[in-house]
Amino acid sequence: MPAPDSQQKISGDTVRADFNALESVVHYSRAAERLGLWASERKLIEQHFPDLRAPLLEAGCGTGRVTLALAELGYTRITAFDFAEELLAQARAFAREKKVTRRIRFHHADATRLDATGNLLGYQTASPRDRDARPKRRAAGDKTRDDGEGATTVGYAGVLFLFNGLMQIPGRENRRAALRGLLALARPGAPLLFTTHDRDDEPAERRHWKRQAELWAQDKQDPALVEFGDRYFVDDDHYRVFMHLPDRAEILEDLAATGWKHEWDEMRRRIAVEPKAVKDFSDECRFWVARK
Ligand SMILES: C[S@@+](CC[C@H](N)C(=O)[O-])C[C@H]1O[C@@H](n2cnc3c(N)ncnc32)[C@H](O)[C@@H]1O
Repeated sequence: MPAPDSQQKISGDTVRADFNALESVVHYSRAAERLGLWASERKLIEQHFPDLRAPLLEAGCGTGRVTLALAELGYTRITAFDFAEELLAQARAFAREKKVTRRIRFHHADATRLDATGNLLGYQTASPRDRDARPKRRAAGDKTRDDGEGATTVGYAGVLFLFNGLMQIPGRENRRAALRGLLALARPGAPLLFTTHDRDDEPAERRHWKRQAELWAQDKQDPALVEFGDRYFVDDDHYRVFMHLPDRAEILEDLAATGWKHEWDEMRRRIAVEPKAVKDFSDECRFWVARK
């Protein structure tokens, strides 16, 4: 595979094309089929998303590793979206194979361009029959929706953006746009669960970023990178990966700037012991819980 083109800045289109590449589709399909939820993910999901009937939103669902596992755990109202068509097609195929299509709505959408009035809220609308049968009890302009089962809801009861998907959005303003878009789709009090790689977790990482800081100070960094903390590399499975590695302060600022209340964060190794297969698939990361 040729080296990434370092003349052009990495954009959302670069990342989407990389995720749509065959090597990436194979990598993530294998994970969806063989790996399922990490022990840490499962523990936190059970803790923060206890209601199996609550409407949940998964951003960056890829081939469905998380969403399919949620459906198999018994969650019945999952909406999952991704901007990489090839991964999404695979997720849909797996859902059909596993016979969980009734529990999941898949959408093709870009997290940086979410619109709270768009179809990602469609899950909460009543069926036309239910809607016609119900008395109209809300004022014009009231954005609450009826879930068709008697309860009135506004937006998702929980949001997930797992396995560092948020950090695969180039540009801090774009990541903030995604956080704002997800906030607009969430109910008051809804938790957001996501992960990041820590820039300063290990000595080797700290050495790498010290060197990178020197390069950035001299304007000698890879010109394809957008910001300090960015990495663009070819993975062991031969697919290209863009990843922004933040420090903790950056995420706390981004949550505050976008209206999410930081609740808790912790490194994965302190949450659960992961099997080797999970560690081989994914490096250590930090889990975050924020709340609308
Ligand atoms: C590391 S993969 C994780 C996939 C899946 N959630 C999993 O855990 O296996 C990150 C996912 O985020 C998606 N993604 C990245 N940027 C996105 C964006 N702006 N909008 C929607 N999806 C995005 C990618 O296409 C990819 O499927």
